Amino acid sequence: MIENILSFPKQLKFFPEVKGKFFEYKGDRIFIAGMGGSGAVGDFLLDWLKRDIVVVKGYNLPSFARSEDLVILVSYSGNTEETLSVFEDALKLGCRCVSITSGGKLETLSLNRDFPVFKVPTGYHPREAYGYLLKAGVYALKVLGYIDRDTYNVFVEASEAINRYKDSLQGEDSPTYEIAAKIYRRLPIIYSQYISVGVRWKNQINENANNFAHFSIFPEQNHNDIEGFDFPEFIKDKAYLIFLKTDYDHPRVKRRMEIVKDILKDDVVGISEVNAEGNSEVEQMLYLIWFGDLVSYWLAIQNSTDPYRIDRIRTLKRKLQL
Ligand code: F6R
Repeated sequence: MIENILSFPKQLKFFPEVKGKFFEYKGDRIFIAGMGGSGAVGDFLLDWLKRDIVVVKGYNLPSFARSEDLVILVSYSGNTEETLSVFEDALKLGCRCVSITSGGKLETLSLNRDFPVFKVPTGYHPREAYGYLLKAGVYALKVLGYIDRDTYNVFVEASEAINRYKDSLQGEDSPTYEIAAKIYRRLPIIYSQYISVGVRWKNQINENANNFAHFSIFPEQNHNDIEGFDFPEFIKDKAYLIFLKTDYDHPRVKRRMEIVKDILKDDVVGISEVNAEGNSEVEQMLYLIWFGDLVSYWLAIQNSTDPYRIDRIRTLKRKLQL
């Protein structure tokens, strides 16, 4: 898995094979459906583009969806039932659809209707194909005319630029290993202004390291989460806070993070912060995501667990078939 995590910048440079019939999308609203590692694409596009994007992580399109809306289905396997169910909703409503997948039912059903399919390589676990899925998503938005060339180029430049952090982020003497060591046998609590970054950290720690993790978004954290540190008593000895910071955080979020660090310092076992590197917002988001992926890998190693082992997800999916 480490090779695949380290290949993140390379994945971001790939061009998907496009099947089906292209079209231009002149509207502004897009529903992006997907779960887990695939669902992370919608989170990222919303955080980055800040446009009329609705992320759907469930079975149904919201009732305000209309036939003129575009629906993008992201499923690495192409067989995730929630995503296929959103696809059915979209078809009933008469929406145009675009799929991002390595194959499965999603590819077949999409091509049967002549919808475009942006194909990512097969043979990976969805969460380690995130660079492919994300690039396919950004590329699809460019092909559809939803983002302009300049916006697309900002993403391309960021994807190329992050490669320069490879040496500093990998290895057992890196800050990624150090953070993993800090959260070893503890409860990592992740704070960020970016849902795409924080959720990715949490999910990767859950799936790769089989470790509990919690994420809360800023500034919402200040209105509830901050009060949850008295009980159970073991929180004091186990909770480890990680603040993920970017230059693009709202100035008041920057201030709030500093104050929260001070307020909670005696209520937790430790606090770290990760300051994003990069010359653009998207580069800083990609940097933090890559950083977190490596943390999750090192934590898996320290936990002596197989980063590919997702027994509970497998059992659940099997039981749902019965
Ligand atoms: C497994 C993983 C999961 C899947 C999720 C949806 O590596 O990351 O979170 O992404 O179960 O499956 P797909 O991506 O095939 O639609």
